[in-house]
Amino acid sequence: MFSDKDISHFTSLETPFYYYDLVLLQKTLSNCADAAKLYNFHVHYAMKANFNQKVLQHIKATGFGADCVSGGEVSKAIEIGFDKSQVVFAGVGKSDKEINNALDHDIFCFNVESIQELEVINELAAAKGKTARVAIRINPNVDAHTHHNITTGLDENKFGINSWDLPLCADTLRKCASLEFIGIHFHIGSQITNLDVYKNLCVRVNEFAEWFEERGFAVKVLNVGGGLGIDYHNPDQQIPDFTSYFKIFNDFLNVRPNQEVHFELGRALVGQSSSLISKVLYVKNGKKKNFIILDAGMTELMRPALYQAYHQIENISKAKLSSAVKYDVVGPICESTDCFGKEVELPETLRGDLIALRSTGAYGEVMASHYNLRENIQSVYSGE
Ligand code: LLP
Repeated sequence: MFSDKDISHFTSLETPFYYYDLVLLQKTLSNCADAAKLYNFHVHYAMKANFNQKVLQHIKATGFGADCVSGGEVSKAIEIGFDKSQVVFAGVGKSDKEINNALDHDIFCFNVESIQELEVINELAAAKGKTARVAIRINPNVDAHTHHNITTGLDENKFGINSWDLPLCADTLRKCASLEFIGIHFHIGSQITNLDVYKNLCVRVNEFAEWFEERGFAVKVLNVGGGLGIDYHNPDQQIPDFTSYFKIFNDFLNVRPNQEVHFELGRALVGQSSSLISKVLYVKNGKKKNFIILDAGMTELMRPALYQAYHQIENISKAKLSSAVKYDVVGPICESTDCFGKEVELPETLRGDLIALRSTGAYGEVMASHYNLRENIQSVYSGE
């Protein structure tokens, strides 16, 4: 929801731009931190969701750790000032260079996704005379009931070590003198709105933790990943229900004394705090369809083109109650998939009107591209 003051400010700015509501971001972070504290849970922010400098500074100040998936993210986390003891590094394809970089930074833990990767980290750590802390990312074969492109914890997915490979994994861990096993890691998918899915995950986590403990491996960390979804259809509903989310893990995970439970939340922390603000370049009224052509496209917000993702579209220059027309809302890019929504009901729209694409804080700015040689766009902040 934008105030009249916001909107009159927006009209003076060059479009398109990402608008960040830092007050809402801070509220969301505090809400999550308070809910996690109830159970002594540890939250690492999944940096891939948004690595905007100001966003990261707020997250760091909240005391969360950083969950990274590239050497670039590890270096950025350290540069921002995240405590290295709270930096974890996941990803199916860590290069030697990235592993060496993380070893040099002495990060808390590598979330390891294959047996071969265990051997490589062991070798590289040995060469540096170091011991690398590792958690085993297990593919638990739990259906996240989300879009199939963002499901990660099924047998057919590339992520993690499958259960049938765990005996070999345990043997490898025993052989690798430069590795310290600290726990197990899971991430079953993103934009999960059915919380029951997490109950199923807890059952599997308990089984795998027991499996390792029975074989003499002390499981100090249970990292259950992220994935908590946001309500894209109600962007003003804003703060996800962190309390119910954490309660599930408290109720269904068997946590032993001295065990820590870690989370890797991305979208839920940042998703609602940003909108992409764009201007209408042209309105084309056809026989079959009316088109609104925006100055923002899939280069600034890729999710609709990539996953047919829904982002609420609002004409913020017009009162909501004025007469509604159906439009296909598209961008300027030379691709038919450059479309933010079909048959979207909006007030009658004119060239120059401002259009807000809501809930773009997660996987928005970070997935922008230069396709068609598009330029970087600015970010605008409120509540600094
Ligand atoms: N941990 C791991 C290992 C992950 O792979 C991910 C996300 C997360 C944590 C954070 O998940 P979140 O809490 O944000 O759901 N680009 C897609 C989402 C891809 C998510 C990839 N992994 C989208 O726009 O929907």
